[in-house]
Amino acid sequence: MESRQIPTKTLHDGAPVPVLGLGTAGYGSAFGGEYRQGDALRAALQMGYRHIDTAEIYGGGRSEELVGAAIRGMPREELFIATKVHRAHLRHDDVLRAIDGSLSRLQCDYVDLYLIHAPEPAIPLRETMDAMNELVERGKIRYIGISNFGVDQADEALSLTRSLIATNQVHYNLLVREPERNGVLRWCQEHDVLLTAYSPLEKGRVPRDDTVIRLAGDLGVTPAQLALAWLIKKDHVITIVQSDNVEHLEENLGALDVDIPEDMVAELENLPAHRVRW
Ligand SMILES: NC(=O)c1ccc[n+]([C@@H]2O[C@H](COP(=O)([O-])OP(=O)(O)OC[C@H]3O[C@@H](n4cnc5c(N)ncnc54)[C@H](OP(=O)(O)O)[C@@H]3O)[C@@H](O)[C@H]2O)c1
Repeated sequence: MESRQIPTKTLHDGAPVPVLGLGTAGYGSAFGGEYRQGDALRAALQMGYRHIDTAEIYGGGRSEELVGAAIRGMPREELFIATKVHRAHLRHDDVLRAIDGSLSRLQCDYVDLYLIHAPEPAIPLRETMDAMNELVERGKIRYIGISNFGVDQADEALSLTRSLIATNQVHYNLLVREPERNGVLRWCQEHDVLLTAYSPLEKGRVPRDDTVIRLAGDLGVTPAQLALAWLIKKDHVITIVQSDNVEHLEENLGALDVDIPEDMVAELENLPAHRVRW
């Protein structure tokens, strides 16, 4: 299997992050699917995927275990491993316990990125951020991330961190444009924070959209490649896509070679959300 180097964008301190990562939300939860998912993870790593996104909640921790098993023996510094603390664990001491659970399942001494999975208004953000700051200082996490944070919440998180925010991971794709409307995309660009677009294929619905299919055909690429390339082309945007299908994993890497002409970008920018066939 051929391996390729995935291009990177840089964090606030210049550190590189691969623009295309592998999501694992559905890993570890499908009965009987674990062998396929383990194989897919190993195949992805062989192909050159280095940015892997997981969370303590995915598969009740099983996703992290599958990732840990797949990366065992690989040079740790070549990987960018991201995991997330669940919103039920955002009290100070709960965060400290949660990271130890994740590190043990991942069989790692540290994660590259630790994200607050979603804001929890019942718990003061200062309490959570105090714990996140401590984790950076103790070397258990390299970078702090937030996820599903609006502009005001992101501002508050930034004001409480002692080491800045690496990324806000939010729902964003050709059919879901919330980060453009609610200001999160602009906020990330202005604050030198990467926006990590999750569900970039809207769980498989984007590649079934008539307009995306037509435009991809005109360009001689697949709909998934066009959708991923559209995201990656944007300033400060990277993405994580999930698949446990080796052909799709390879196909999605092809997005890195897609050059979208400006007139097509304009058409994609205006793609109305209602075109999706559910
Ligand atoms: N922070 C958060 O709250 C949050 C929320 C949701 C997701 N996420 C993260 O983002 C990752 C990705 O999001 P997602 O899993 O929701 O959705 P997604 O990546 O948009 O879509 C995954 C689906 O698309 C299919 N697919 C993949 N490549 C394809 C291709 N080339 N052609 C056609 N279909 C293709 C996959 O099926 P096959 O397996 O058959 O390829 C799978 O069913 C998650 O795994 C997770 O890590 C984070």
